[in-house]
Amino acid sequence: MTAAIQRRLDIPEPRNAEKTELHPELNRAHVRFIGLGKTYEGRQGPVAALQGIDLAIQRGEVFGIIGRSGAGKSSLIRTINRLEQPTAGRVLIDQVDIGEFDEDRLVALRRRIGMIFQHFNLMSAKTVWQNVELPLKVAGVGKQQRQRKVRELLELVGLQAKHQAYPAQLSGGQKQRVGIARALVHDPDILLCDEATSALDPETTQSILGLLREINRRLGLTIVLITHEMAVIREICDRVVVLEHGRIVEHGPVWEVFGNPQHEVSQTLLAPLQHALPEELQRRLQAQPSSTEAELVLRLQFTGSATDEPDLAALFSALGGRVKLLQGGVERIQGHALGQLLLAVAGSPLNAEQLRQRASQWAQRVEVLGYVV
Ligand SMILES: Nc1ncnc2c1ncn2[C@@H]1O[C@H](COP(=O)(O)OP(=O)(O)OP(=O)(O)O)[C@@H](O)[C@H]1O
Ligand SMILES: [Mg+2]
Repeated sequence: MTAAIQRRLDIPEPRNAEKTELHPELNRAHVRFIGLGKTYEGRQGPVAALQGIDLAIQRGEVFGIIGRSGAGKSSLIRTINRLEQPTAGRVLIDQVDIGEFDEDRLVALRRRIGMIFQHFNLMSAKTVWQNVELPLKVAGVGKQQRQRKVRELLELVGLQAKHQAYPAQLSGGQKQRVGIARALVHDPDILLCDEATSALDPETTQSILGLLREINRRLGLTIVLITHEMAVIREICDRVVVLEHGRIVEHGPVWEVFGNPQHEVSQTLLAPLQHALPEELQRRLQAQPSSTEAELVLRLQFTGSATDEPDLAALFSALGGRVKLLQGGVERIQGHALGQLLLAVAGSPLNAEQLRQRASQWAQRVEVLGYVV
């Protein structure tokens, strides 16, 4: 799907959406929030946790929600399975407004929506097998079918050998695998993940992300995930929304938001992913050249929307003079080249502004950082 269409998906819809001709992509939206609001009655008065959220999540995508602590991420995700009841607006799942659901329909809805948590929420007195089997028992599924399902899921998450272990005998990653198996018992078509990898070390996080990706691809599940780890979003999400004080401040395909974050909150959240200037270089940088030998330092940022990776030979020759690569790299997100290059240019016939303009033919953003001798 093109970015243009994806952008269009987030256009606010009128309240009486059923009566309106919807864009076909909107009609296929798996989850839609329309004018969604949530106000809690706090001790010191009402807390507006969500305001005017209009958003569409497509079937089969991995959708990320980021924002500072208290921005409303958990409140938003929990309206999808009505663990949280909105105080304004609507949530549509497959075009059906879930706001009017009675208890029976809510139970059925929650079976279609699996959820995993940061602290796994396993029953400590039950084995791995029993933990996964429990929701099936509660739903009145027969023994044979239960056994088949539990076996199949433990195989999917790679825990067959641990089926008799108790949670206390498992590592964090293994506990989360049990959590994932348990979330999938009713063959849901949506999986909600609230900080599901936050308690795990980086290597285990990788393996859980790999598993989520596999589930997304193999089972075609829509995954909605909240995380404070930006690398997790970069790794597996298709699109991302940034919340601040309960409102959407930015959203789009991950490569676009990560490549060129527009809002101050997104820039702050994503700053750890940016390569900082080497400290030694930072110390030597001067605003003006102190001698004719001084080298001009340029930072080129690639944000993915231009033609592929930079042709370095062409770039260097366009700048003229001697060009040194101080630092840099290019990575790919969703097929788009993103990254930055720090260059030092000496002896070029061009002045700083001319150099900046020349370099702009190869990069989306070019800054003159200063001079070093
Ligand atoms: N049950 C509640 N009663 C009152 N206020 C609440 C309640 N739940 C959440 N809030 C408030 O709503 C706002 C949003 O909370 P929410 O838990 O959705 O944020 P979050 O983005 O998930 O934060 P974190 O990253 O810390 O988990 C916060 O100001 C929070 O204090
Ligand atoms: Mg939260």
